[in-house]
Amino acid sequence: MVLYIVFGILPVLFVLVTIWMVLMYRAFSYNGKRQMSKQIIEGIAAYVNIPDGGKGIDVGCGSGALTIACAKRNPKAKMIGIDRCDKQLRVLKKGGSFAIHDIMSKSRYGDMQAFAKKLKDMGYAEVKLIDTTNGVFMSRFEALWMELSGSTILVGRK
Ligand SMILES: C[S@@+](CC[C@H](N)C(=O)[O-])C[C@H]1O[C@@H](n2cnc3c(N)ncnc32)[C@H](O)[C@@H]1O
Repeated sequence: MVLYIVFGILPVLFVLVTIWMVLMYRAFSYNGKRQMSKQIIEGIAAYVNIPDGGKGIDVGCGSGALTIACAKRNPKAKMIGIDRCDKQLRVLKKGGSFAIHDIMSKSRYGDMQAFAKKLKDMGYAEVKLIDTTNGVFMSRFEALWMELSGSTILVGRK
């Protein structure tokens, strides 16, 4: 039985997981046909409109792909990307807009509708949760097989 699991089931599982990973890599890659990363980055940047001479900040910028996309969309603004520091950042000025994208599932973030309402109650304007699994960034089927269900953008203005 142990030999059956080790030499029969585990290699098959390994091959299936490898195929799944390769398919996901190809779907996300800038070099592939699907280019989902590009679609997501440019789709988020589309919500970031900075007035000429204004400043934008990408908090948790990682490699800076989104920072660069926002800079390209707003060539007359200054775009800054920052990453991890030891204190929480409060940084958006009055009138500034924000766009946050993540897998906003209930288990990770709690009730995002309630959070959006809280932001509105606090005076934030144009607060919207946008489901991106209905064709905006990906299809429902892609979200399912790539484990991206809950992919959402939260946008608004302070
Ligand atoms: C999932 S990555 C996203 C990177 C990038 N925004 C992108 O879309 O490719 C999250 C990033 O947030 C950064 N991060 C997490 N907590 C942070 C904090 N409190 N202040 C600044 N950056 C933070 C992490 O270091 C990481 O690079």
